[in-house]
Amino acid sequence: MPDNASRDIAKQVSGPLLEWYDANARVLPWRAPPGSPVPDPYRVWLSEVMLQQTQVASVIPYFEKFTARWPDFASLAAVEDVDLMSAWAGLGYYARARNLLAAARAVAREHGGELPRSEAELRKLPGFGAYTAAAVAAIAFGQRAVVVDGNVERVVARLFAVSDPLPGAKPRIRNLADSITPDVRAGDFAQAMMDLGATLCTPRSPKCLLCPLASRCDARAAGTPEAFPVRARKKARPTRYGTFFWAERGGKVLLVRRPARGLLGGMRAFPTGVWAESPPALADAPFAAEWTLRNAAVRHVFTHFELVAALATATIGSHIGVADGEWWPVADLDSAGLPTVFAKAVQAIGRSE
Ligand code: ADE
Ligand code: SF4
Repeated sequence: MPDNASRDIAKQVSGPLLEWYDANARVLPWRAPPGSPVPDPYRVWLSEVMLQQTQVASVIPYFEKFTARWPDFASLAAVEDVDLMSAWAGLGYYARARNLLAAARAVAREHGGELPRSEAELRKLPGFGAYTAAAVAAIAFGQRAVVVDGNVERVVARLFAVSDPLPGAKPRIRNLADSITPDVRAGDFAQAMMDLGATLCTPRSPKCLLCPLASRCDARAAGTPEAFPVRARKKARPTRYGTFFWAERGGKVLLVRRPARGLLGGMRAFPTGVWAESPPALADAPFAAEWTLRNAAVRHVFTHFELVAALATATIGSHIGVADGEWWPVADLDSAGLPTVFAKAVQAIGRSE
């Protein structure tokens, strides 16, 4: 139960912020206009899953494509895994897509095609962490829930000049976010914080002169808004090495499906060896052939490491079958739904000699 002092803070922040949002909300395809009846929970959920770790501008075309093909839980629940994974290709963080499908199937099967409305019930569905459950409860169902993503974290850290570093400061920032979340319009409030973080309270050069919260912002008062949030020094990302194998036969190239668990699980891919501490060259080729290492490589940054992949190619004379393998027309690779790291390999091979 918030005390009177924190209720005052809540009003000082949420009043001007919601007023600003009413005039300045970004128009986005999953949103209902500010203050209007809540939008379709299916669209809210889909957008929130896509928006975790992915920028709004990159999400919009995927959101439009998904909702045109699969307008509700029932249609999404009926999709084949591989079709969903290839539609997701390019968005990254593929565990999200596997959980998306699992959640759609659970909603269709166990909840009569409708999301449960409470944060606690939502948390039980696949892929619903603290963020997604709070965002959906607030935005789709108008419940009071504390929604903290990276933008909100930055705005709160600045409003209260939180000086202890992330990630350790997360619980404190969450409590502060709780203290300014209003009882009504919590969904609009969350999206207003996100919009403020995306448009004015940006990581570099925040536009404090335009900010509706400038008069009660501690970081602005201190004159150092950019100094927040404070971050613990990051460990350097390790580099790992691998080889992608391009086996071509009669204008087609061999694609496999990656094992369901692990990095890029369930996605179409070129055969690869294991990732190693040093370049593994032709170790772990999918089968014996005249493999040639090309003068090209692919670099790709994953969350926990950077991958440097060598590219090996071979032209195959007779049919070779590989478990989980498909021979895919080279001219039609765009439609294979390859994750970005393998799409980069297609480009690199095209440029190499
Ligand atoms: N980022 C995450 N969720 C969002 C939303 N609902 N609107 C804008 N940006 C977001
Ligand atoms: Fe962010 Fe500046 Fe507004 Fe503070 S005054 S919330 S630092 S934009």
